[in-house]
Amino acid sequence: MCGIVGYIGAAQAADIILEGLSRLEYRGYDSAGMAIFDGEKINISKSVGRLKVLEEMTHNGETMPGCVGIGHTRWATHGVPNTVNAHPHFNRSETITLVHNGIIENYIALKEMLKKKGYEFATDTDTEVVVQLLDYYYKGDPMEAITKVLQRVQGSYAFGIIFAEHPDRIYAVRKDSPLIVGRSKDGCFIASDVPAILKYTRKVFYVDNQEIAVLFKDDLRFYSIDAEEITKDEVFIEWDAKAAEKGGYEHFMLKEMYEQPKTVTDTFSPRIKDGKIVIDDLNMTDEELAAVKKIHIVACGSAYHAGVTGKYVIEDLARIPVEVDLASEFRYRNPILEEGAMVIVISQSGETADTLAALRESKEKGFRVLGIVNVVGSSIAREADSVMYTWAGPEIAVATTKAYSAQLVALYLLAMKMAYVKGKIDDVELDSMIEDLKCIPSQIELLLGNEKRIQRFANRYVGAKDIFFIGRGIDYSIALEGSLKLKEISYVHSEAYAAGELKHGTISLIEKGTLVTAIATQPQLYAKTVSNIVEVKSRGAFVLAVTTEGNDEIEKNADYVIYIPQTNPLFMNSLAIIPLQMFGYYVSVGKGYDADHPRNLAKSVTVE
Ligand code: F6R
Repeated sequence: MCGIVGYIGAAQAADIILEGLSRLEYRGYDSAGMAIFDGEKINISKSVGRLKVLEEMTHNGETMPGCVGIGHTRWATHGVPNTVNAHPHFNRSETITLVHNGIIENYIALKEMLKKKGYEFATDTDTEVVVQLLDYYYKGDPMEAITKVLQRVQGSYAFGIIFAEHPDRIYAVRKDSPLIVGRSKDGCFIASDVPAILKYTRKVFYVDNQEIAVLFKDDLRFYSIDAEEITKDEVFIEWDAKAAEKGGYEHFMLKEMYEQPKTVTDTFSPRIKDGKIVIDDLNMTDEELAAVKKIHIVACGSAYHAGVTGKYVIEDLARIPVEVDLASEFRYRNPILEEGAMVIVISQSGETADTLAALRESKEKGFRVLGIVNVVGSSIAREADSVMYTWAGPEIAVATTKAYSAQLVALYLLAMKMAYVKGKIDDVELDSMIEDLKCIPSQIELLLGNEKRIQRFANRYVGAKDIFFIGRGIDYSIALEGSLKLKEISYVHSEAYAAGELKHGTISLIEKGTLVTAIATQPQLYAKTVSNIVEVKSRGAFVLAVTTEGNDEIEKNADYVIYIPQTNPLFMNSLAIIPLQMFGYYVSVGKGYDADHPRNLAKSVTVE
């Protein structure tokens, strides 16, 4: 969602802000803007559409000189995407400017209050209320005004603020929206995410909820909401800067698909020691783990799909009942969390608003929460009782691929560990599973080698109106993710169905030529899925089957087959998802879309 970058230092702020915002493009946005203090006053430029419009408008920042500034990419929530509603916003005397990520929930009441005091509003945004409220409280001391505003606003926010009367500093504050602060020898930075400033510094501070950061050109201070100075630890970012570059690939999404062998290895290899699974980051003894009676997995989107696979794997191996919930449902359904239950929240960004709320709800009810998270230092990583990191590195494409693959592996490891400590699998079974796990990266490489074949197949379907994905058990969870990958970036309507459920209604949608992708990797369900293939075939469907090597007789019923190497059936998702990701990607490319920036979507969904 919205991206924020700010800079104060010796260099030209506009250069750094435009560069930083370009690194945040993956978050999704519809307009952009920046405010720079030129030595006398604050100047603002804003534009609708891609960042390059703002770059052209400002001659790559040259028309906006100055060493202090804030910039923003906006993903519209309140008010249509236009220049007026784009950030930064001004107070009425144009002496205070602010950028915001999040939603101010009580903005209507605050707006009414300010209107009665004579304030007029130029925009339809919730954000403008905050800058006018700052104006209202500002009597010469920015910190006093900010702390008063923080007591009045409700909702989620990350703010970057400049006061023209105090141009030697930038103020930054957050609650439930991400914000980091960085420091280099040439100045200080604020950003919504690390890639925005990785080119300039690896030294960052994670701003906690309702903390205020004050950035000077050569100093950095932190305060509590009561304006008391606090100390914070600097974190050194280990990420390879190249990880946030396209590295010759046409899209980040393609690059990230190719990074999956490494991601999978990085997620499991540090956790396999002397033939055993050691998950130090769990902070749980084997006895505590063995005592878990029930698991609730809570997540959104693809992370939820990983959770659905996790349910099958954990239940099958460890024989522990697992419920999987969409975070947006879980948080409002007053869930029953029983004695001995553990909650697992899964999130790439670690900032997804609904998942974070589910975590808090669970903790409030007294339950242990394990986060499976990719972004180190994110809100979920900080608030969960324990964190299992998926070491996927920065994921830039909006549609997840490598982080999803890493989530699967984290769940397999957890399932195997739990099964072992509960005595449900012995050393021989564990060894065999570990061996299978170790083969997955090279098997993914093999599948990636089919790229050209899948591209050709995808090109035949760029005109498709509806595509169905079917499967049973783990194959159903693969269908869910395959379908989402396709629809979110190619805008082709697609549905995933449990194959056995088709004839309870959906089969009436199948007509001559409809593409049905049938996933049949689970040996005990294979024959059942083949029957479903026959059913859709006889209604005219064109069937793409994804099955394991050796199942050649499927060619009698399917029109096109993609074979997956053999592995433990519980790990099949890690392999079968690869051609489906590639298919979605190439349908999108074939239609001429930008697969990295699908319309209406944001990478990190920080509002509910
Ligand atoms: C789809 C996709 C989304 C995310 C979802 C959760 O490709 O990326 O469905 O999986 O928004 O995001 P995180 O994992 O950051 O909580």
